[in-house]
Amino acid sequence: MRKSVQLTSAILLLAVLLTACRSSSVSESSTSASSLEKTVTVGFSQLGAESDWRSTNTESMQTALSRENGYNLIYKNGQQKQANQVTALRMFIQQDVDYIVLAPETETGWDFVLKEAQEAGIPVIIVDRRVDVEDPSLYTCWVGSDFDLEGRKVAAWIHEYTQSKGIEGQDIHIVHIQGTEGSTAQIGRTRGLTNAVRMYGWDLLAQGDGDFTEVRGREVMASFLRQYDNINVVYCENDNEAIGAIAAIEAAGKKVGPDIANGEIMVVSFDGINADAMQYLKEGKISCIAECNPHHGPRVQALIETLERGETPDKYNYVQETLFSSVQEIKSVTVGDESYEVTIVK
Ligand code: AHR
Repeated sequence: MRKSVQLTSAILLLAVLLTACRSSSVSESSTSASSLEKTVTVGFSQLGAESDWRSTNTESMQTALSRENGYNLIYKNGQQKQANQVTALRMFIQQDVDYIVLAPETETGWDFVLKEAQEAGIPVIIVDRRVDVEDPSLYTCWVGSDFDLEGRKVAAWIHEYTQSKGIEGQDIHIVHIQGTEGSTAQIGRTRGLTNAVRMYGWDLLAQGDGDFTEVRGREVMASFLRQYDNINVVYCENDNEAIGAIAAIEAAGKKVGPDIANGEIMVVSFDGINADAMQYLKEGKISCIAECNPHHGPRVQALIETLERGETPDKYNYVQETLFSSVQEIKSVTVGDESYEVTIVK
């Protein structure tokens, strides 16, 4: 009897672990061909419009959850304020929508309103960043990026590249322009850098909040340049910040590029969706970008259609992403036991 209880617990644990580790049940090839039998009303609370990534993400959602695909989409822009998002969710509950899709600005502060949605019987799909709630049954599922992995990949790239040039850890003088404080993207990418600083003995000079915007990226970088004259690496938590940081560096009469042994300032970043940033990558002004894929519309559509068929989707759905660089030397990076190929952009 005891043995069979132990066996059942082991099987259950294995099932939970497998579900948690599964990379994605919502494949990259999800199409927008709809399998709906009736119009489905979806309330989508987007956090704002701070970056090119965000605008592309909004477009992707609006295209996938369109009238032609059988949806009635109620879109609300939270204007970078969690209070606006909470108000939007309450409005969706009052309107008795079929589903709520939430792209949360920060992780905390969602327990009460998600409980209200649950009591109203409305399934909630979280997209992009995560929510940190006491009871995970308050939302149905999540789809988005592995922000920790993104951060670890960029840190590994800096390490492997500087090693290949014979540059010691203590000679790497980094400034760090962070994303919106308390967002999953900021938390994961910051963790990637701070672990590497500890592991490789890098000199982390300063951190500042760039709020994922170009304007803040420029302001924060200008202030770092006024305070430190030995900066040789800038770790930006998205491409908009990187574009702002590059403008500040060039305005200060300095050169951006990977050749830090000869006085260039290396800029690394995240997203890979902004055309200017991809051009900078080709020119070597940005040395490396961890892809963050914003095309979640078809993935959310697939999740809703799975639920509409009465099936249960995976709780956590990770998107596969690459690392972009135009630097030829580093073809792959190692994170833990895994090796990740670098997509060389020419
Ligand atoms: O949460 C994803 C992040 O949010 C993207 O990297 C950034 O550009 C956006 O604003």
